[in-house]
Order: sequence, then C-alpha cells, then structure tokens
Amino acid sequence: MTELSFIHRYEPATDPSRPPLLLLHGTGGDENDLLGLGRTISPGSALLSPRGKILENGMPRFFRRLAEGVFDEEDVRFRANELADFVTEAREAYGLEAPIAVGFSNGANIAAAMLMLRPEALAGTALLRAMVPLSQAPAVDLAGKRVLMISGAMDPIIPAENGKRLAASLSASGAEVQHETLPTGHNLSQTDLQLLVRWFGR
Ligand code: MLT
Repeated sequence: MTELSFIHRYEPATDPSRPPLLLLHGTGGDENDLLGLGRTISPGSALLSPRGKILENGMPRFFRRLAEGVFDEEDVRFRANELADFVTEAREAYGLEAPIAVGFSNGANIAAAMLMLRPEALAGTALLRAMVPLSQAPAVDLAGKRVLMISGAMDPIIPAENGKRLAASLSASGAEVQHETLPTGHNLSQTDLQLLVRWFGR
C-alpha cells in the first residue's frame, strides 16, 4: 500500500464511469469495514478507505469527543482539514477525481464537517446516521454538491431534530440534499443499501 498520511486501503476502479468513494468508518471501525458496502452500492468505483487517527479506549475515530454527541469542535476542524489533505495526496498518488464520501456515524460526521470546511475535497457525500458536527455552520457555497442523508427515526444517539438541522443547513448552503428517515435505529439496514444503490445509480 502506498505510504500516505493515513493508514488506508485502496481498491482501483474497474468501471471508470463510476465516481471514486471515500469510505469513512464509525467509532471502533477501521479501514476494512466499509469496503464491502462500497463494492455493493457503487460496483466498479475506486475505493479509498482511511482509518481514523483518534483512539478512544482503543477504538479508532476521526475526531475527539468530550462525551457521546458532544464534540471537541477545535479537533473536528483540525481533523477535517487533515483528512481533506489526505484526499488531495491520495488523488495525486492514485490519479482520482474528487471522491464522494460515504460515512457512517462518526465517519458521516467528519464527512459533513469536511464538506463544510473543505468543499473542494469532495464531489458529494452520503451521510449515514450523521449529526451536526459544528455548532456554528461555516459560510460555504455547496452548489453542485450532491448529498444523501439517511437517518434512523429510532436512533438513540441522534435526536431527529439534529439530523433535520444538518440537512437544512447543507441545503441552505446550496447542496442538492435528499434526506430520508427510516424506521430504524443507529445501525444500517437493508433499506439504507437500497437507497444508496438508487442514489448512486442516478
Ligand atoms: C460521534 O461521536 O461522531 C457520534 O456520537 C457517533 C458515534 O461515533 O457514536
């Protein structure tokens, strides 16, 4: 594996018409977690899958938190920029267009922060069980960015109001947001996969 600034897995595209995916795991996951999901939702896409650099009781994450749902926002900003720099390096090393980030939980939260702070790094993002990553949304122009957000109505970690606030904030910045809420909890369901396949097929 090419030496870049994050431990990561990379799978080259087998279908060049498909966008590259940046796969961002949840707390306690790693760079292997979402490769299968990536292959299923956009077959033939190049897959770039980094491991979060923060360790919380041995569990990898993409930024520090003070408690569940309470983020260290200075670290969110620092880590979102660091990850955007990694995407730039990886695009050069592997010859990639700007990827679509597919993030789950903590990975979705860093993807949302990255989109707001470094919009040029991503072509769009699929946010699975995301919440507002920064209490003050940065002023940013997200015109032309596609965002799929999938929330769980019974998610014990993310209040419904919080997910709606994130979707509204991304739309207000000009992103083309599709926000779906499923009758499920924090974990992914078969319906998440179906929605993702459909969204990537568009
Ligand atoms: C986070 O810390 O990003 C969210 O609480 C989701 C999680 O990782 O549990």
